[in-house]
This record gives sequence, C-alpha cells and structure tokens, in this order.
Amino acid sequence: MRTYYLKIDTQADSQNIEAAAGILKNGGLVAIPTETVYGLAANALDGKAVAKIFEAKGRPQDNPLIVHIAAFQELDALVTKVPPEAVKLADAFWPGPLTIVLPKSSAVPPEVSAGLDTVAVRMPSHPVALRIIQAAGVPLAAPSANTSGSPSPTSAQHVLSDLDGKIDAVVDGGRCTVGVESTVLSLTGETPRILRPGGITPDQVKAVIGAVDIDPAVFSSLRDDEKPMSPGLKYKHYAPRAKVVLLKGSLAAFADYAAAYANAGTMAMCFNGEESAIPVPAVAYGDKDNAAEQAEKLFGALREADRTDAGLILVRCPRTEGIGLAVFNRLLRAAAFEVVEL
Ligand code: TXA
Ligand code: MG
Repeated sequence: MRTYYLKIDTQADSQNIEAAAGILKNGGLVAIPTETVYGLAANALDGKAVAKIFEAKGRPQDNPLIVHIAAFQELDALVTKVPPEAVKLADAFWPGPLTIVLPKSSAVPPEVSAGLDTVAVRMPSHPVALRIIQAAGVPLAAPSANTSGSPSPTSAQHVLSDLDGKIDAVVDGGRCTVGVESTVLSLTGETPRILRPGGITPDQVKAVIGAVDIDPAVFSSLRDDEKPMSPGLKYKHYAPRAKVVLLKGSLAAFADYAAAYANAGTMAMCFNGEESAIPVPAVAYGDKDNAAEQAEKLFGALREADRTDAGLILVRCPRTEGIGLAVFNRLLRAAAFEVVEL
C-alpha cells in the first residue's frame, strides 16, 4: 500500500483536508495531528474500518480506542448518559487533552470498545484534527499512530517511520505541542478516576469536579492475574528497542552510574545543559524544572536515543508535579517499572 503524505501549510489549505476526509469516509486509515500526539484515525462508526487500525499497529485486540469528536453534541449519540461532571469537564477542557470514559451506546461498534460496555471520548484542540473530523462528518476512533508498544509519534516523520506502507495517508500538521497523550478519566464508577495521567493534570480536574482517584496502575505494574480498568495499562508501552532504566538521584550520581556502563552502547536522556557532565552520549528532554517542555520533547528524545545502536538508555527521573506525572508515567512504562534509586 502506498501511504500518501498530505501536508497542511495554511489554515486555508482545504484540499488535503478533503482528501483525508474522503479516505476516512471510504473506510480507510489516516494518521492525523492532534495537540497531544498523532492519532491513527478511522470512522468510529464503521467496525470494519476500525479493525484495520488494530492490524496496522499490531495492537492487542482487547485494548479499546478513543473516539474523537468536533462538537459537544456529538457525545450524545455515543453514550447512554451524560452526567453533570462530564458537562463541567467538557466546558473546562474541551477542546483539549482530556478523554472521558462513559457508558457506551449501541452506535459504538464493539471493535472500538474492545468488548467493554464503556467508550472513551475526547475533543482534540488541534485545528487540523477538528477540521478533518468535521469534513469526515463522523466521529473518528484513533489510538496513537505508532507501532503498538513503541514511543508515541509527535511528528509526521515519526508516524512514517512506524507505519509507512501500512496506512492510507498521513496528514502533516507540524509537531505536537503537548507531546504526551490525553488524560483518561473514567466517570463510570462511584468516584471519578484517572486511568492514565496526561495533558490535563489531576489538580486541574479536581478544581472542576472535586474528588478524583488516581488508578494504582499509574504507579505500579499489575500482577498477571489483575484486570486493569483501562486495558492499555497492562501492556509495556512507549518503549524503544533498547532497555530503559530510570535513575532517581543527583546529576553527579547519575554520571557515576553511567560511567560504569560507558562501554556497552549506553545512551542517556538528561535535562537541558547536563550533556557534558555525563560520560555517555546524551539526549536532553527539556529543562529540569519545566515539565511542559519535558512532555513536549519526551517521545522525540526516546526515539532519538533509540536511533543509534544503543542497548541501554539511562534516563534522569523527572519530577511528578503537574504534567510531570504523565512524563514520569510514560518513562516508568518505557522502563518496564525499573527504577534505580541512586
Ligand atoms: O492523546 C490521546 O489520547 C491520543 C490522541 C491520538 O488522541 N490517543 C491515544 O490513544 O493515546 P491510545 O489508544 O494510544 O490510548 C488510549 C488509552 C488506552 O490506555 C486505552 O486502554 C484507554 O485509553 N481506553 C480507551 N477506551 C477505554 C475505555 N472504554 N475504558 C477504559 N480505558 C479506555
Ligand atoms: Mg498509544
């Protein structure tokens, strides 16, 4: 299959938007930019089209997809009820990086929800994503547009390096500004629960609806017999080919640790300006005190560290305040929960 590359240069460039929408209406797959990461989109109401997403990504069949809408009213057809919390959250954060899980309606095919009786919905804020959803005239199911398990794509080039030849088109809308995926929040239990930290912080959610739980799977791996609320949480994720280890402690201790592995094709991921203090090749992923910058650069840095023939990537552990929780969570999973306290 040839993958068409559709670049969007200006707000006025509607030809490529129409081309992307046409492919989607015909049951094809198009990678689209969102403010978080690139998504691999298909018509969410067409089970056959959605099934192709799983094939192209090599995604486990039991991991459900997020449905993307362009207007709040489109939520009504997808869910059986819209609780007041959902209205408040949508008012505060849509369009934007918050995904809300609600009881699904029969309009949502089982391929989207992977057999669950709930559906995850969000309204992205990227103008190109919104225009494509509108032009397609249907909600779009879209997971991150990477090969399952690898770091999420934050540029059209990342998408092509994973999926060229496996999807119909990629729409290039530039780099993603948030850089980590949306926050997934379930409103199906007694207390609202964050299943995956992301672009909207727990404090931001709390400020709008009060009490919020954070799913324990955000911080620790599940036992084999445990069933997560969000099936995606049980898979190793965001991982480059190399082994990743997260190191907690000072820069000096990090440098010492790296020195012991300096001969083994080791790479480091560090904060801006630390490269010269580390005795192995290092890729910076943002300022030590700027979690938003770390989020934006995280997946690109993971891919860059992995481009070489590195066998081991040592990563400076980020702080967990604000969006830093999402950065920490992605690194924790990339490292298969291997954290070394220095
Ligand atoms: O920012 C994002 O959310 C990006 C962009 C493209 O919108 N999408 C994304 O999709 O990250 P994906 O498929 O890579 O991650 C979706 C996560 C998975 O962890 C999945 O298990 C969870 O959302 N999820 C989807 N539907 C769910 C449901 N009904 N109940 C619980 N978790 C669900
Ligand atoms: Mg993903």
